[in-house]
Amino acid sequence: MIRIDSVTKRYPDGTVAVDRLSLEIPDRSITVLVGPSGCGKTTTLRMINRMVEPSEGAITLDGVDISRQPVNSLRRSMGYVIQNAGLFQHRTIVDNIATVPRLLGWNKARARSRARELMERVGLDGSLAKRYPYQLSGGQQQRVGVARALAADPPVLLMDEPFSAVDPIVRKGLQEELLRIQDELGKTIVFVTHDIDEAIRLGSMVAVMRTGGRLAQFAPPAELLSSPADTFVEDFLGVDRGIRRLSFFTSETLELEKTPIVAVDATAEQIASRSTSETPYLLVTGLDGRPLGWSEPGDLVAGDITPEQLLSYGHPFEYGRDSLRAALDAAVLSPTGWAVAVDGAGRAAGVVSQQTIGEAIRAAHAKGLTDAKVAG
Ligand SMILES: Nc1ncnc2c1ncn2[C@@H]1O[C@H](COP(=O)(O)OP(=O)(O)OP(=O)(O)O)[C@@H](O)[C@H]1O
Ligand SMILES: [Mg+2]
Repeated sequence: MIRIDSVTKRYPDGTVAVDRLSLEIPDRSITVLVGPSGCGKTTTLRMINRMVEPSEGAITLDGVDISRQPVNSLRRSMGYVIQNAGLFQHRTIVDNIATVPRLLGWNKARARSRARELMERVGLDGSLAKRYPYQLSGGQQQRVGVARALAADPPVLLMDEPFSAVDPIVRKGLQEELLRIQDELGKTIVFVTHDIDEAIRLGSMVAVMRTGGRLAQFAPPAELLSSPADTFVEDFLGVDRGIRRLSFFTSETLELEKTPIVAVDATAEQIASRSTSETPYLLVTGLDGRPLGWSEPGDLVAGDITPEQLLSYGHPFEYGRDSLRAALDAAVLSPTGWAVAVDGAGRAAGVVSQQTIGEAIRAAHAKGLTDAKVAG
């Protein structure tokens, strides 16, 4: 849909902000531009809605050169969200969100009702509608910014470091919200950040840029982590890319052990029959099937098992839904070295050792490499 074709931006003082950049930005997914400060991310984003004009090259939208399209209609087809939201301080939340519909000539009632609908969509309580921006937290303001950009239902959203001014927990919430909105609305989103973790979390495709406005690599996040194009990309990804890559592998491939699990009301025979030589511990569950903790079989007395006597199991992972990274983390944090897998309802589905997880990781890597070869 959006195609950047060998675009260069030279500012009047001679600074080359973007240097022969070519990117094909796929429809209805999130493409992230990431790179160090000053590498040309904002300039690139602004060339897409013509707030900045390229010095050379062309950008096309659905095959049409954007330099031949009227700027106003082009910008209306592209919502724009910036850091700190950039809200109008003298307007209420609902009127901030209604800005573009009002510009488009909608009457007040219709624009406000659209605004209220969007507040709900971005997870803002309706009671905030009449407040002013300064009466909202940073995270709430950022949600208003997203709602305002979505107000006229543009097919494209341009987002320039929208979440970088909020703390990590709020930021995670905003990222999840964006992924959910994207799932529901299927917008084409170009998202700028200098945070590689955010890029990997959000992007279907990630463009890593380097100083001088040059593209270093354009790839899906799993591929960046497995095969960085050069040492710049490798350094930018950071030290633990092997572990991070595990978040792209499903835990579904793990073979769970179901034997060493007993309920809190287990009989002596059950305790004896469920103890195996491979697992030195038994996982005890409540009557609802939820894990309570670990115990050595010899410490369990039928009819007298109390949760307080059990060893904590750390945190479980959801089998099939969570990744191998979550499974490994669960095993590493478990005092027994075994991870607890649960189903969607939180009931124990099985247990799995660090060693089995290690084997699954090796298998996933081997398969990943094969896939990369097939694709490449
Ligand atoms: N109007 C301008 N005139 C001259 N140089 C500019 C102008 N705007 C940006 N630049 C320069 O262009 C380069 C790219 O800037 P840009 O804002 O696109 O970077 P960025 O990747 O968004 O950085 P950051 O992560 O800090 O936001 C920088 O060297 C910047 O100083
Ligand atoms: Mg910038």
